[in-house]
Amino acid sequence: ASTADGDRYELVQREVDAEILPGFATRLWTYDGVFPGPTIESRRGRHTTVLHRNELPVPTVVHLHGGRTPAASDGYPTDLVLPDGWNGHGGHSMADDRAAVANLQREYGFPLDQRAAMLWYHDHRMDFTAPAIWRGLAGIHFVRDDVEDALGLPAGDRELPLMIADRAFDADGQLAYPSVDPTLTGEHGVTEPYLAGVLGDVVLVNGAPWPVHEVDTGLYRLRILNGSNARHYELEALADDGRALPLVQIGSDQGLLAAPVRHRSVPIAPAERYDLLIDFGDLPVGAEVRLANRLGTGRTADVMQFRVVRAGERTPIPETLADDLPEWDRSAAAVVRDLAFRAGRMDDGRHGWLIDGLPFDPARPDVTARLGDIEVWRLVADVHHPIHLHLVGFRILSRGGAEPLPHDAGLKDTVALRPGESAEIITRFDGYRGRYLFHCHNAEHEDMGMMANLEIV
Ligand code: C2O
Ligand code: CU
Ligand code: CU
Repeated sequence: ASTADGDRYELVQREVDAEILPGFATRLWTYDGVFPGPTIESRRGRHTTVLHRNELPVPTVVHLHGGRTPAASDGYPTDLVLPDGWNGHGGHSMADDRAAVANLQREYGFPLDQRAAMLWYHDHRMDFTAPAIWRGLAGIHFVRDDVEDALGLPAGDRELPLMIADRAFDADGQLAYPSVDPTLTGEHGVTEPYLAGVLGDVVLVNGAPWPVHEVDTGLYRLRILNGSNARHYELEALADDGRALPLVQIGSDQGLLAAPVRHRSVPIAPAERYDLLIDFGDLPVGAEVRLANRLGTGRTADVMQFRVVRAGERTPIPETLADDLPEWDRSAAAVVRDLAFRAGRMDDGRHGWLIDGLPFDPARPDVTARLGDIEVWRLVADVHHPIHLHLVGFRILSRGGAEPLPHDAGLKDTVALRPGESAEIITRFDGYRGRYLFHCHNAEHEDMGMMANLEIV
């Protein structure tokens, strides 16, 4: 519904059986019966309200990733929407029960006073975010604005939102979580299961395995989200004549770049977004282009395919894009913080993923920042950790002590730290006061403690 005050959506979180693998009915947890959830379109500065009703068997929390959202609607991990009849069983504490009395629904309000960007909404319940996203609780939310409109970028059926997410299935076609191989412990040499995160062997794009999409010989805008729990991809577009088509990056997590950046391939970590232009114009009708994953092996080396089915009109790629990117100078920083993202032993002796040696505790203040302050954060990682800040976008100042990489351009909300790497980011904490978060967006790492409070005062 749309009124003078804004737009309003009502989404019912419910279970459905959907055919993802041919001939199988897979039980999903969905926003409104579909996976990915319904795509929401908002205009910059136009208030969007989303009423979420919980008909799932578990408590939920909704977070709009990349949104500059007042804390009450940001989806703090203990701000639960309880399902009908939830009585606190299943490992729930008494305190949670008292705090959230039978609230079967919750209204989230989004001012969206921010640049045009591809945001996404997903579950954020404490300790259970990864399995909830895995079962289907994720959707795309676009913010549009005049800056973007003025560029005349490919639109309509030439703008393709692509949520890439790997999943594993059991012999009955049900989602397997944790997935296929419990020994996938990755780089760290640690033997506890799933420490590296949960990987699947089926690559879904918008909920379909390895889809084929028909295109014409025109320019297309790919809005790519890595909605995977833990899988990293390096995407390239390989035509059947052996050529790699250039991927022209025009935007990042938080909207348009200043100018396009041409890549042969782009790395994309969980939660990151890429706004890419791809030109099928040099290909003959009948050509096929594989969107491939250089980091995959076997079936995970493929993502999807484009098939050129007709001639289309040529549109030029703009030479310049947005001039509203914030530039913050290091010398203006009120605070410089060092934060370490590493595995470690928790009090009970188990391995956890920790920030500065500590697992997430909703009761402990971690970082307190003043509204309006510019800060530099120096982040260091042991293995791959895509680090995400709520509320703000940031710029990447350096990586591994050197210049940022070409794909680090623009305004980000997630920075993919590579093994052993450090990075510096700079941001200004504007927007709202209140309790927010920063965390690793490997969803299993997040559930295993790699999250901390960000209090804006
Ligand atoms: Cu995509 Cu704290 O989230
Ligand atoms: Cu977020
Ligand atoms: Cu991590």
